[in-house]
Amino acid sequence: MKGLLFCCFMIAGTFYTSFAQPRPGVRPEPRQGVPPTDAPYRNAKLATDARVQDLIARMTLEEKIGQMTQMCASSITLDGTKKLDLNVDKIRDLIKNHHVGSLLSGTGTAQRWVDFLMGIQQIAVRETRLGIPVIFGMDHVHGADYVDEAIMFPHNLTLACSFDTELAASMARVTAIESADLGHHWNFAPVLDVGKNVNWPRLYETFGEDPLVCSRLGAAYISAFQESKDISPYKLAACAKHFIGYSDPKYGWDRAPSEIPDQVLHEFFTPSFYAAFKAGVKTLMVNSGELNGEPVHGSKFLLTDLLRKQMKFDGVVVTDIKDINKMVEMHGSNDTEKEATFRSVDAGTDMSMACSDLAFIRYVKELIAEKRLTEARIDESVRRILKLKFELGLFENPYPRADRLKRIGTVENYKEALKAAEESIVLLKNEAGTLPLSSTRATKVLLAGFTASSKRNLNGPWTLEWQGAPEDRQPKDMMTLAAALQKMLPKPASLTVADSAAEAIGSAAFDKFKQQISLADVVVLTVGEVPYSEFKGNATDLSINANHRAMAQAVLDMGKDLVLVVISGRPVLMTDLAAKAKAVIFAGYPGQGGGEALAKILTGQANPSGKLAFSWPVGGAHIAPYYVKKSEYFHRKAWENNLPLFQFGQGLSYTRFTYSDLKLSDTLISREGTIKATVTVRNTGLRAGKECVLWFLTDEVGTITRPVKKLANFEKVALKPGEARTLTFEINAHDHLSYPDKEARRIIEPGYHSLRVGGEEARFRLK
Ligand code: BGC
Repeated sequence: MKGLLFCCFMIAGTFYTSFAQPRPGVRPEPRQGVPPTDAPYRNAKLATDARVQDLIARMTLEEKIGQMTQMCASSITLDGTKKLDLNVDKIRDLIKNHHVGSLLSGTGTAQRWVDFLMGIQQIAVRETRLGIPVIFGMDHVHGADYVDEAIMFPHNLTLACSFDTELAASMARVTAIESADLGHHWNFAPVLDVGKNVNWPRLYETFGEDPLVCSRLGAAYISAFQESKDISPYKLAACAKHFIGYSDPKYGWDRAPSEIPDQVLHEFFTPSFYAAFKAGVKTLMVNSGELNGEPVHGSKFLLTDLLRKQMKFDGVVVTDIKDINKMVEMHGSNDTEKEATFRSVDAGTDMSMACSDLAFIRYVKELIAEKRLTEARIDESVRRILKLKFELGLFENPYPRADRLKRIGTVENYKEALKAAEESIVLLKNEAGTLPLSSTRATKVLLAGFTASSKRNLNGPWTLEWQGAPEDRQPKDMMTLAAALQKMLPKPASLTVADSAAEAIGSAAFDKFKQQISLADVVVLTVGEVPYSEFKGNATDLSINANHRAMAQAVLDMGKDLVLVVISGRPVLMTDLAAKAKAVIFAGYPGQGGGEALAKILTGQANPSGKLAFSWPVGGAHIAPYYVKKSEYFHRKAWENNLPLFQFGQGLSYTRFTYSDLKLSDTLISREGTIKATVTVRNTGLRAGKECVLWFLTDEVGTITRPVKKLANFEKVALKPGEARTLTFEINAHDHLSYPDKEARRIIEPGYHSLRVGGEEARFRLK
């Protein structure tokens, strides 16, 4: 027996020396029943399907179910938190006894990540019969945000305001470089939920309210991430999340029920997922909430009929965290977890993000023994999961590596994040040229507010910790807004930074702030919300925080120029203050370059070019995206003050752009035809700048009532002073003039459409 074990161990040893040499980590335990080294599944030259087939044929039922199970790193650390101290006994138990094939999450330095994942992977590869590597998932949603040294990018909502797909691609490329070597294989990003409900506390994770913006930025992210060559020999998987209807809960809270008619779902919610599938996204995560009365995790209609059959997605479908359990605990749609497990697997789940308990494994096994689930159904999911592992090259390159860690947190990567922030921040109002701050007009600048000296508020949530790490764990050499402004404010202007304690109305610091106002020419005040994630951000009122209001009011009462800088995951309601402020900026969560980018914009070293990717409501009673139906608009027009405070697409520059000569190649278009629209955009101001050119279409009459307008194309152009460019938009009747009915069949109707770009407008007719 001993001899046999030794022999197996030697065979395994020979085989694994062909892998990237592991760092000394976990001392291996012997294993049994190891297939020969020339087993087809180990042959990288064979087609993936053949490898999958060979491997599945060798697997026991338990080994298969284990592949469908994902556990949280906190279940294998010494103290049960996300801190990366591996509890070797626990991970060995999960992998060897329960055959768990996937893990997620954790936080720490790059080196600790390498050690942690080396330990895990060595057990999976060297100590199990088949040596199937673990696939490790992360929430790197704005950079490799759970790695201490990594660069934090703006969150998606901010990035979307750049209207620049290249910036989404750049974030993806940097994230790939800063995570792949650490053994992170799978990123639960991008969020493709259309952020049409500003109450929803995950709005900042979306690319805003427009389906086209979500589609294009999402697809750019996915392609750049999954096709990155910088990380060779590794490959990474992105994850389109959260399918579907998560972002518009009826009353605005996280994971609360959504009621979305099928027609609306097809018109506004599926396009970003279709775009992701076209970009080749390998995996998808399910919406934790319920849609039209059914938990999405248990919906065969959504997960099979819509997702698999209609939308033809063939990648891995993973649940959200503990969500099979939530069908019992939260939705009450099933009385036991076993029934919920049946329902979810039957509906189409491939992998359960079970996280902390192994009930999923037990129940699936029982359900098979009871013949309620078939092994063929299990094979279907396991086939997808193994295909993913083969496609990522995990069998050939299972181990992390520490020899390129200096590529993490570099100046170049920071510059990408800075550029992203600079081009995303939106200047919403700028009366009488208050900005940029100039040494002649504003010699005494007072900077105040909750983010003046905070890094945490700039990076936002999902930064080293779920809710955003405390100040002392934020990136060391990151510049706060105060530090950046101090450096950049042109002399002889001077900067005073108010104490952050001034936020507390009635405190001594607040009184001192009032004195400081009296000495200032202009007050730059940061207002907004402290970072929150998911349900922690549920709110009943989006009104500006009372302390921030008091600070702004104090500035206005003393007749000083007020510049409001909103650092927030969603719009705050502040209509009266915005009317009185001289300038308003939306920065969202601009990330690690946020302080520097804001200072550059405030001082004019950078010319703002962001435009709002969502509609900023005027008050709590009327919250709606820009693509409301015509009848809604009819009512809105009747009460002018019900228009948004700031509109989708609104954003200023320090230069001026004028639009002219909108021309159509024809005013008639056939159902299969195309026409060409051209417009000239000219920089008529005095400095170089960038303009996001937004093309809107309106279907003037529709059997199913049509949105008042819909973004049909966008492009960002850089123009020097005096420079002009003629831009072209090819209108394709099928893509741009049709819309889905409730069965997703395209409707295309004769009649007039109008096209708007800048202040220009043209009309054409579909034959
Ligand atoms: C979130 C997901 C995330 C998952 C894993 C959940 O709470 O809804 O977006 O990917 O946690 O961390």
